[in-house]
Amino acid sequence: MAPTFPSRALLLTFVLVVTITFVTSSPLRKREFPSLDGNQQGGIFSVLGIAGLGDPNDTTVYPRLEIRQLEKNTVQWNVFLLGLQRFQNVSQEDKLSYFQIAGIHGRPWVAWDGVEGDPDEKSQHNGYCQHGNTMFPTWHRPYLALFEEVLYLNARQVILEWPNGTFKDTHMAALTSLRLPYWDWAAVPPANEGSMPWSIQRPTIPITLPSGPSEITNPLASYHFHPTPEWPDEGDQRWKAFSQTYRHPTTRQTGAISQNGLVANTLDRNRQSMQNRVYNLLAMTKDYMSMSNKYQPGDSLESIHGIIHDTVGGDGHMLWLQYSAFDPAFWFHHANVDRLIAIWQEVVTQTVVDGQTCELDQQHLIYFLPPTDSSPTALKPFHSSDTGDFWTSDSVRHWQTFGYTYLAVQNLTDTDTIVSRVNALYGTSARPMFSDPLSVYASPQSSHKRSISISGASTFASRRQYTVNIRLHEVSFDGSLKFYFFFGEPVTGDAVDWVDEQGFIGVTSVLAASVQGGNEINTVVPLTAALEARVRILDLPNMEEAFVDDYLTGNLRWKIVQVRSTVLSQYLREKVLIRLQANGDVLDSESIPGIQLSVLWQEVEPAKSTLEFPSLRGALQTLKEASEDEVKAGEFCKPTLDSISLE
Ligand SMILES: *[C@@H]1O[C@H](CO)[C@@H](O)[C@H](O)[C@H]1NC(C)=O
Ligand SMILES: *[C@@H]1O[C@H](CO)[C@@H](O)[C@H](O)[C@H]1NC(C)=O
Ligand SMILES: *[C@@H]1O[C@H](CO)[C@@H](O)[C@H](O)[C@H]1NC(C)=O
Ligand SMILES: *[C@@H]1O[C@H](CO)[C@@H](O)[C@H](O)[C@H]1NC(C)=O
Repeated sequence: MAPTFPSRALLLTFVLVVTITFVTSSPLRKREFPSLDGNQQGGIFSVLGIAGLGDPNDTTVYPRLEIRQLEKNTVQWNVFLLGLQRFQNVSQEDKLSYFQIAGIHGRPWVAWDGVEGDPDEKSQHNGYCQHGNTMFPTWHRPYLALFEEVLYLNARQVILEWPNGTFKDTHMAALTSLRLPYWDWAAVPPANEGSMPWSIQRPTIPITLPSGPSEITNPLASYHFHPTPEWPDEGDQRWKAFSQTYRHPTTRQTGAISQNGLVANTLDRNRQSMQNRVYNLLAMTKDYMSMSNKYQPGDSLESIHGIIHDTVGGDGHMLWLQYSAFDPAFWFHHANVDRLIAIWQEVVTQTVVDGQTCELDQQHLIYFLPPTDSSPTALKPFHSSDTGDFWTSDSVRHWQTFGYTYLAVQNLTDTDTIVSRVNALYGTSARPMFSDPLSVYASPQSSHKRSISISGASTFASRRQYTVNIRLHEVSFDGSLKFYFFFGEPVTGDAVDWVDEQGFIGVTSVLAASVQGGNEINTVVPLTAALEARVRILDLPNMEEAFVDDYLTGNLRWKIVQVRSTVLSQYLREKVLIRLQANGDVLDSESIPGIQLSVLWQEVEPAKSTLEFPSLRGALQTLKEASEDEVKAGEFCKPTLDSISLE
């Protein structure tokens, strides 16, 4: 089929966009090092990232490192920790405080940098954060660049206040290449480590000052409000009771404790599922619409990112989008999301993107543009210049603009391609991150266990891909829904223990604050690897549809857990905040109508070498569709006697 060329109207749009860009964009103006002293409310802060700082002739971009890799650069790690500590300590009145920058994501819903947010139906407030649309990936890019830049400025200020000497000089030298680290929750963790780095869990952390070594409250584990704002009542008083951010807190009262160990265990158990989802997204999702947001059928980066919010948050800050950016983990998590977008951008530029899936893509470049808009939408409140221009999805396309990059997309060659790197990171034969015998160091509380049922990523050797697809529509609820999948009925009744079940396959979720009535939200749990493992142990004869159908009817089970802001307390039990509300007993169809659950399959041509990706063949087909009763029952009902034809 001949490539479809953009219609005249779209071409016109293309020209218009280019013209606007040409007229309004002047070279980014460096501004040395803006002051961090108080009284930052006036004027415009143009978000230039670290690229906007220092020597205007220095255009070097440095890579953002995985947080465990940064930790190995002892001096730079020290700079990072001290910079973040100082950043978090800046007065909450200050525009460039950790509090106000985190606040751009939601509460306290105040104008930042003099820019009013857009009215948000759900929150009844004016906000900026883009979820559930094509700007989800691009909006967070300048947001992270802002955070990274202000973190850098704080680190610099710490060093500047030290006495002259070698200690100061080595730290100042290490600062130059400091970038915001990312946390790769999908890759195989380093040997003997869990998926969740110990550095972001531990309550205190060692640092070194000119006066010698010391131990500080860990700025990576939590943000301490100073003071705790008079948050409004949102069904309970917890936000007023929480003087710091919590992960999977033990209670909603004062005295809550973060349960990082529990979070780490869930992340370990679900990691293989996350690896498969990330791989499928990078290797087989070619159009921006599908990749970017959860209102499209199938999996999306937004949906993949959501389960990390859900898992890390429990019922704490990370779960609730309006509070999530206060948790330091938010920044390392989102840096990884940004990195996956950068990798995806590299992948699709090497692929022929046809006119239908990406009409504005003339030179195989992705046009980050909401398709319904004729001009780029401003990514508010992020100014791109002192004269009040805003960043747009198009102008943030080249992440290097902000002075950072990622190792995965640096120095690609004909033999070391983005495809081979994605295969090595997330494919069938993925190896532990930065495999290096010297990198082994223990993280005392992390679990090292691996899920038993799904050892390994999908090989697609059977030329089949199977996925559970969950679609919600007409949903209006406040909270989050989690979907756990198993082979066989879980033995334990406690939701927090489900990930440890022998037959656990994966968990996915739909986040609360982004749910809007009338929209359809999609998420998936891949089944291919789990089924392939069943074939290997001869539990399942082969991967053909008829056998898989039969096997799923007999063995696939699911549980649905709801976290809500108002009804939770009656289910509170000691140490288990999220009380399971599985299936019919609490999840009545009146409160959560319209959950569609189906098993889809598609033919896949496996890759012939590590320089290739598997490719999808033929149409996506429905293997099974659960009825409303089956959704509630948590399994596909076996055919009853009278429905079996007796030939
Ligand atoms: C930047 O480069 C220009 C031209 O090469 C030079 O004139 C200027 O002094 C340089 N600026 C700095 C701060 O080094
Ligand atoms: C935090 O800020 C306060 C007040 O500005 C200051 O007294 C204190 O030393 C700071 N602490 C750190 C660790 O920077
Ligand atoms: C420290 O070094 C800077 C620049 O090298 C110099 O301007 C300053 O006077 C020095 N301070 C002291 C106390 O020696
Ligand atoms: C990429 O190349 C630059 C400059 O040649 C070098 O400084 C950097 O270390 C290289 N990065 C990787 C990941 O090889």
